[in-house]
Amino acid sequence: MGTKVVLCCSVLYVLLDSIITTVLYTHGSQPAIFLDDALNFNILQSVLDLWGTLLLRASLLLGASIGVSWNKEDGPPRVAKLTTFIVFLCMIVITYALAKLLMLTELEPLSHQPWFLSLIGWTCASSLCVTLLWRQLGKKSSSVSSLSIHSSSRSGGGGGSEDTEKLMETAGEEDEKEEEGQEKGKDTKSSSGATLGRLLGYCKKDTGLLSAAVFFLIISAVCEVFIPSYYGKAIDSIVSQDKSDFSKHVITLTALASVSSLAIGMRGGVFTLTLARLNLRLRSHLFRTLMGQDIRFFDENHTGDIISRLSADTTQVSDLVSLNINIFLRSSIKGTGFLIFMFERSWKLTMVAVMGFPFIALVSKVYGEYYKKLAKEVQTTLAEANKIAEETISAMRTVRSFANETEETDSYCSKLSAMFQLNKKQALAYACYMWSSCISELALEVSILFYGGHLVMTGQTSSGTLIAFFIYMLELGECLENIASVYTGLMQGVGAAEKVFEYLDRKPEHPADGTEAPDACTGLVEFKDITFAYPTRPETDILQGVSFALLPGEVTALVGPSGSGKSSCVSLLENFYLPQQGQVLLDGKPVNTFQHTYLHSKVALVSQEPVLFARTVKENITYGLTGVPMEAVVQAAIKANAHDFITALPKGYDTSVGEKGTQLSGGQKQRVAIARALIRNPTVLILDEATSALDAESEHMVQQALNNIMQDHTVLVIAHRLSTVEKADNIIVIDRGRVVEQGSHSHLMASSGLYSKLVQRQVLGIETGAEVFNSSESSWKGGGGRTRRRQSSSSSASGAECTPCY
Ligand SMILES: Nc1ncnc2c1ncn2[C@@H]1O[C@H](COP(=O)(O)OP(=O)(O)O)[C@@H](O)[C@H]1O
Ligand SMILES: [Mg+2]
Repeated sequence: MGTKVVLCCSVLYVLLDSIITTVLYTHGSQPAIFLDDALNFNILQSVLDLWGTLLLRASLLLGASIGVSWNKEDGPPRVAKLTTFIVFLCMIVITYALAKLLMLTELEPLSHQPWFLSLIGWTCASSLCVTLLWRQLGKKSSSVSSLSIHSSSRSGGGGGSEDTEKLMETAGEEDEKEEEGQEKGKDTKSSSGATLGRLLGYCKKDTGLLSAAVFFLIISAVCEVFIPSYYGKAIDSIVSQDKSDFSKHVITLTALASVSSLAIGMRGGVFTLTLARLNLRLRSHLFRTLMGQDIRFFDENHTGDIISRLSADTTQVSDLVSLNINIFLRSSIKGTGFLIFMFERSWKLTMVAVMGFPFIALVSKVYGEYYKKLAKEVQTTLAEANKIAEETISAMRTVRSFANETEETDSYCSKLSAMFQLNKKQALAYACYMWSSCISELALEVSILFYGGHLVMTGQTSSGTLIAFFIYMLELGECLENIASVYTGLMQGVGAAEKVFEYLDRKPEHPADGTEAPDACTGLVEFKDITFAYPTRPETDILQGVSFALLPGEVTALVGPSGSGKSSCVSLLENFYLPQQGQVLLDGKPVNTFQHTYLHSKVALVSQEPVLFARTVKENITYGLTGVPMEAVVQAAIKANAHDFITALPKGYDTSVGEKGTQLSGGQKQRVAIARALIRNPTVLILDEATSALDAESEHMVQQALNNIMQDHTVLVIAHRLSTVEKADNIIVIDRGRVVEQGSHSHLMASSGLYSKLVQRQVLGIETGAEVFNSSESSWKGGGGRTRRRQSSSSSASGAECTPCY
């Protein structure tokens, strides 16, 4: 709906309202009634005051319409700001009309006054329409204001939706972002229903359980609805001294209470069970989806975020959604029942109650919004105070060394005092809220008591009915309160569900769905003209046109400074990522065409810092395999030079290694990792700086293990120790993502390229990386001073052949 349409509707509505109200007031054709009523106004007989409310409605709508049409920029937001006040005014008009209805019934039965009745009905309906139109006039604010901002800043005028669209298209980035945000907001609102529907879809398998829960819920709610009615009846029979009636009512009451408690218990139990099943399904589905994601996903998302979705969000989804649906169903059934009973007992008292509830709700809403705003400000100030505290305490040495303790304390305290100011406002707001809500509740109760007393005294109703009505009204109030709180809770749950579904819906861009699983695998690996950038940094090519081959049964060394792209080559061979250009081939076929488990049984990786799981040594070695005989585990451990230390552990192969293997030394962990790779009997073995994080002793042990196994596989070794590199059949030197040299050790030494310079410098004990590879951080430096000293001392013995022994 465009602004013009809303304006036209408002003006037309004012016209319609005037005609209908006047016709109803003048009973169709008695205009003289105006003069009579004006001269002899009697609030109990005349309804000129109701006709007067038309003037209020008309002036509100016309005023807003004129305002919006004159000032298209600021008008709608101003109208929107006044919405709560207008709702309040309309509620007063409706209350007044209903009070008038009750007054008129005192004189004559309503059936004798059709014109009055219609006028009251129309006044209520019309007041509701005014609030709706007012909202509409204020709602146009976003589009009208954005339209006028765009038009004034870009084209200087022009209306129509087409123009708007064009302007939006040419709008700057910021505007686009804003627009996106708004769209997102709308989408979120519209998708809340879809999310709820989808969640219910998850409960499909529990339809039986859910139906049982809803069945018990209905039974308990219906019983609870009848209970106050029987209280009233019992009291009535006490008053009338009717013993048989009294015992009948008490027995019914007992039966109702027993059935209701039984149903409440069953409902609670079945709902909890359904909730647990939903939680289980949601979590396992989410975990399975996470396991199927590509490595890019784990690069892009923090572990903390993922874990929080897996634990906190899934719990919130099942708890909040089921709890709130439960509350909503229960409260609406009970509320409807209570309202029906209240109406049946006394429609007049019900009218008074219905008049009061909206005011109480309005007080809560106004307070709720203000309190939320304050709470947000308190949170922000608290976060700022915490930031100061955290920063100061974590940098205590710096604070002490600059003697800045007092200033830090002052800035922390200033944030605390800002928070205290807000706390004071909160306290005042809370006091006002409690005061106004208690007063309005009390006012309602007193009005009901007053009016109900009048009805009892005039013989229009019984005292038992009044008591039952009172109980109903208090219960109804509780139900309405619960229903009001459901929305917030439900939206929180839906928010959490949307987060969970976002993960569930993510389709991996690079799924491990290859199918090839040939019987024989020779282990020929070829990198063909690979250009690769990480998905998180697509603008930086880490590898540029890299080509090399790993021949079956040969040891190939990949050397280069830190950050040159060696581990990236390994990631491509492991099929963690897809290169942008070129292919990584295993036996002539791209690695991504192989079956996931097949590829990882043929290609095994031992990395610099192997991650062990908090399980036993045996479970770590056989990780990812099932039904492995103990002899195979021992064989792998012997080959990895690990058997001796494992058997020396308290429980041998059944010793737990602690979280991430912390109960083992670095060298022991590395050897377990080597055994884990070997037990698969891989064709291609990748050792990515497998010894560089170790001390000399451990390195010696691991190196021995590696020397044992290198002959049997196609080996790709990434190392910065010459002892490993020089024995390789082929050495590939990589720098800044390009292959700069390759050949055997002697060939590269003879060609006097970078490699030979590097070797010479390393042998002489000179730090090399920065000069040779123009890299500030070189992985050629050697592990530490001790190693370099040993290298230089050995170089004097071995001369030009430089065979440093470790
Ligand atoms: N997961 C990743 N996401 C984005 N960039 C990465 C990632 N891993 C490594 N890099 C970057 O790629 C470059 C090459 O890293 P890498 O292959 O690990 O070097 P190295 O030769 O030392 O093994 C580095 O600049 C590094 O910052
Ligand atoms: Mg690396």
